[in-house]
Amino acid sequence: MSNKPIGIFDSGVGGTSIFKEVHTLLPNENCIYLADSKNAPYGNKSEAEILDLSVKNTELLINNACKLVIVACNTATTNAIAFLRSQYNIPFIGIEPAIKPAALSTKTKAIGILATKGTFSSHLFHKTSDIYATGIKVIEQVGDGIVPLIEAGKLESNEMINLLHKYLDPMLQENIDYLVLGCTHYPYLIPQLKNLLPDNVKIIDSGSAVAKQTQSILSKNNLLNNVEQKPVLKFYSNGDISVLKSILNFECSVQYLDF
Ligand code: DGL
Repeated sequence: MSNKPIGIFDSGVGGTSIFKEVHTLLPNENCIYLADSKNAPYGNKSEAEILDLSVKNTELLINNACKLVIVACNTATTNAIAFLRSQYNIPFIGIEPAIKPAALSTKTKAIGILATKGTFSSHLFHKTSDIYATGIKVIEQVGDGIVPLIEAGKLESNEMINLLHKYLDPMLQENIDYLVLGCTHYPYLIPQLKNLLPDNVKIIDSGSAVAKQTQSILSKNNLLNNVEQKPVLKFYSNGDISVLKSILNFECSVQYLDF
């Protein structure tokens, strides 16, 4: 069983930022990654649509013998992970905006969160926000348009820089000292964000926490692959595989699959 792959899915290429953290921490693990780019972005879809897409991706991973599924998408986690856990008998790991560390560390008592509409409107996001962010100014900004530009490979375009200015400038006026990246696509914009943000504003995301949680849950379930090996890593996209290849940026198997 421990030799079976970890399954990972996202609305597109963004969840590869999570895959990279997982692969660095757990280099023996075989992985199957699904980029549902055909249906990106998930962020503006209804909860029911996000649920259906999450079920479709999960079933494909389970049918390919995955021992654990990482929902490498804040939007899918906050809208669908409770349902997935209730339906399937394998462990699920999710990702949520890292409000807690930002709220605990802020000195200016103002933090910015960039995420999708679907994440902000979810019950899970409100619950976490209510617990950790009382007494702190939380500036919630929907990152409309960012995911489609990343999916089109336009990370460094003028359109992207303009959008980032539009979303971040008002946060800076509120004197934030933490920017929480609440979408797995956004870590690919860290160089651009660092150019726009003053040095005192720290950027945080949940990628390394997800990798540690994956390690802990695999270990608890006796599912860790301890055999030193070159793992089998398979990446599938139902969109443009050239974008997935370029964002992965290492020699691996990337294939088109209609799912
Ligand atoms: N990577 C997804 C997330 O973390 C992107 C959301 C979308 O497809 O809109 O939320």
